[in-house]
Amino acid sequence: MSAADYAVDGEIALITFDNPPVNGLGHALRRGIFAGIESATADPSVKAIVLIGSGAGFSGGADIREFNTPAATASPHLREVIATVERSSKPIIAAIHKVAMGGGLELALGCHYRVAAPAAQLGLPEVKLGIVPGAGGTQRLPRAIGVAKALDMIVSGNPVMSDQAPPGLIDELIQGDLPQGALAFARKIVAEKGPLRRLRDRRARLDGDPATFFAEAAKRVAKESRGFPAPPRIVDCVEAALNLPFDEGLKFERERYENLVASTESKAMRHAFFAERAAAKIPDVPDSTATRAIRRVAILGAGTMGGGIAMAFANAGLPVKLLDVSEDALDRGLATIRKNYGATVAKGRLSQQEMEARMGLLSTTLSHEAIKDADLVIEAVFEDMGVKEQAFRKLDEVMKAGAILASNTSTLDLNRIASFTRRPEDVIGLHFFSPANVMRLLEIVRGAQTSREVLATVMKLSKRIKKVGVVAGVCDGFIGNRMLEEYMRQAYFLVEEGALPQAVDKALQDWGLAMGPFAMMDMAGQDIGWHIRKRRRVEDSERQFYPAWIDRVCELGRYGQKTGQGVYRYEPGSRAPIPDPEIEKLIVAHSNEVGIERRHVSEQEIVERCIYALANEGAKVLEEGIALRASDIDTVYLTGYGFPLYRGGPMFYADTVGLATVVAAMERYATGRYLQYWKPALLLARLATEGKTFN
Ligand SMILES: NC(=O)c1ccc[n+]([C@@H]2O[C@H](COP(=O)([O-])OP(=O)(O)OC[C@H]3O[C@@H](n4cnc5c(N)ncnc54)[C@H](O)[C@@H]3O)[C@@H](O)[C@H]2O)c1
Repeated sequence: MSAADYAVDGEIALITFDNPPVNGLGHALRRGIFAGIESATADPSVKAIVLIGSGAGFSGGADIREFNTPAATASPHLREVIATVERSSKPIIAAIHKVAMGGGLELALGCHYRVAAPAAQLGLPEVKLGIVPGAGGTQRLPRAIGVAKALDMIVSGNPVMSDQAPPGLIDELIQGDLPQGALAFARKIVAEKGPLRRLRDRRARLDGDPATFFAEAAKRVAKESRGFPAPPRIVDCVEAALNLPFDEGLKFERERYENLVASTESKAMRHAFFAERAAAKIPDVPDSTATRAIRRVAILGAGTMGGGIAMAFANAGLPVKLLDVSEDALDRGLATIRKNYGATVAKGRLSQQEMEARMGLLSTTLSHEAIKDADLVIEAVFEDMGVKEQAFRKLDEVMKAGAILASNTSTLDLNRIASFTRRPEDVIGLHFFSPANVMRLLEIVRGAQTSREVLATVMKLSKRIKKVGVVAGVCDGFIGNRMLEEYMRQAYFLVEEGALPQAVDKALQDWGLAMGPFAMMDMAGQDIGWHIRKRRRVEDSERQFYPAWIDRVCELGRYGQKTGQGVYRYEPGSRAPIPDPEIEKLIVAHSNEVGIERRHVSEQEIVERCIYALANEGAKVLEEGIALRASDIDTVYLTGYGFPLYRGGPMFYADTVGLATVVAAMERYATGRYLQYWKPALLLARLATEGKTFN
């Protein structure tokens, strides 16, 4: 069966793409388009050709199912198809609805005319996978809409809407039936003997001095997309579109494309893309698993997390009832939500009307009676087993049968929490990340008795509230926070040995993390980590060793941003961390006390110790079955912990370094009081010996 349907309507040939779900330009479709153009060329009665997509749009670009298979590059490849389209002696019109993305837009740019239905998205999102468009997009788009606009579109990767498209992109907006409109447009071109408008024959337009324009663009891009591989190359390609003859420009683009495809950074970004999709699949919970309807949500606790979680649901149009222990707590919670929405309105990213609609979905109560009919209740009360016990016993008593009882606990044993109810199969962990209305990650903690139906329901729900759900098993800290513990421990040790917190933060931030560990803990609240350390010392005094200096910081009441000082100090109203000589003194005194002679610690050592500690604990998480796959761990770090996308996540990064190299470095660091933390996980040791990778 061909993926492109060929039909002739009078003087016009119609080539209809049919490769669900998004008309990805897979091999069969490329062949179909090619064959269609051949037929149309050979048929003297045909005077013009329309390319149009069936169903889900014109084309979403490359067929990702073909990635890394021979079909992806099999002839005719996309560049040949586009060249054939452009060369055609009969005018070819692209008729676009819903999407023309990536290769889809490149194909449309090879056509002589483009018409579109309203609200179709047109874009070149390749930058998001760490590459430049590779089928002429960087050469044709500047010739269509001008250099400045094209550069913006390609560097951002963001689509434009057909009804707001810059001049030159769309020749006619077609209201009503697109195929009929496109045929009428084609007949008009034939009747008027419209020219074969080939973008390759046009010059790219730029107002002002090119040298200045491109120097500024390069500077801006270097600053805004530090570490990302494609944006600087996109600037080069668009400059080539202005300066080089078309065919040379195409060659220039192709070379950049191929270099980037082979780069570690782009591989990491493509890994991240596929990792996120893979996370949605749970081997023993097939897509056919029954799910429960979630129409009403209740949240226990209107604090930091409860409020953020409520916003995430309201943003998705779900009504939420917040329950807390006092009117005061409820008022405070609601006021914070209103303030947060207000800030988004002030930035112009939400209308006042939308804000009121979302606020209208929120209500509060002090009574369990009022929430008993909710389909899902999420507990976000204090992180204390006693408080959780009380909360879950009460929920078990009041909630209707079939309600899902979820806990937002960060570290506590979900199986114990489930045991406080008579329905452990309905209990699950929904671990949101702060701020819960913003962070995309949702760790979904599967208890020993959580039912498949409940799991399938919350996986589906996570998409509805625009979160990336990643399944985790029960252990202290689940995937993310358990690994973070080893990362933080190294950060504390590094400071004890001679690096100051600001040096540790800088090294890791320069490496690409959104924030260094100390600035991050100051933001989250040092008291949270302190509380956990105290608990862990009691539960597991052998393994849980931390240098005392960080506890001293907490003993001073320095909990971070919320108290105006933590490891750093803060000016009133500012979140910018300022190194504090008081803390430096405290740290040096601590090192003296424990008999450590402070030394210079290199940036390389800082990065290796912190990141390898993450990967090693990740390996344990994997071998214990807490995470289903290495790529899930990467997704957790990429979407919840500000890990740089172009490094692909801690497991992928370790793979790119080479696991044997990672193990060798760990052996080098295994000295003195740190020895026990550098024992490679069995899985890591085995893979390193076998020359294999996690992913
Ligand atoms: N803060 C974070 O970054 C973060 C991130 C992920 C998960 N968590 C987890 O989320 C939970 C809540 O944390 P938080 O930071 O929002 O705490 P918080 O102190 O800001 O809020 C807790 C709220 O729960 C209310 N509460 C206490 N007992 C209650 C009860 N029995 N019934 C109803 N309400 C009750 C309190 O009045 C308070 O308003 C904890 O389990 C925490 O570990 C926190």
